[in-house]
Amino acid sequence: MPPEADCRRCRLGEARTNIVLPCGNPGSKVALVGEAPGAQEDLRGIPFVGKAGKILDGLMAEAGLEREKVTITNTVKCRPPGNRRPKADEMAACRPFLQEELRGKQLVLALGLSAAEDLLGKKMVMKDVCNRPVNADLGDGQITIMVTYHPSACIYRPAAKEVLRDALKIAASYL
Ligand code: URA
Repeated sequence: MPPEADCRRCRLGEARTNIVLPCGNPGSKVALVGEAPGAQEDLRGIPFVGKAGKILDGLMAEAGLEREKVTITNTVKCRPPGNRRPKADEMAACRPFLQEELRGKQLVLALGLSAAEDLLGKKMVMKDVCNRPVNADLGDGQITIMVTYHPSACIYRPAAKEVLRDALKIAASYL
């Protein structure tokens, strides 16, 4: 079940315009999990439609991955004020929705450390963990999770862009 239209499970419900539910194919074997909706996503109610979304769309196209063929979602479904990182209790409040969205997936790409830390429950250093698949049980059996760079981290960093593009290519190979 998605969040109630008037969800107030955490403080992010106070300032949001729209709850941002997953887009793409909910039954896909592959999911991309971002950090949190930004301003454009909050206005339109769709994940990754702002600046980071444009970068992601470009890299997905280069990797041969169509937006309509994967599930795209976020750790939290409401925009944190000022685009701050979501807090642990906010991610925990939204976790049942994420868990349901990811049920049955074969590969989950965690885009950035917020998603990685939410999914894997520990702090990490991106350069040490990126693009290395790990098995984890999110509550419904083992799935493969691969941590990679968030599209926003690629704006001025060609090396990060390369890593994210490679991750998206691996994701495409699962379809
Ligand atoms: N950044 C994210 O992590 N998710 C979005 O949906 C948009 C920007």
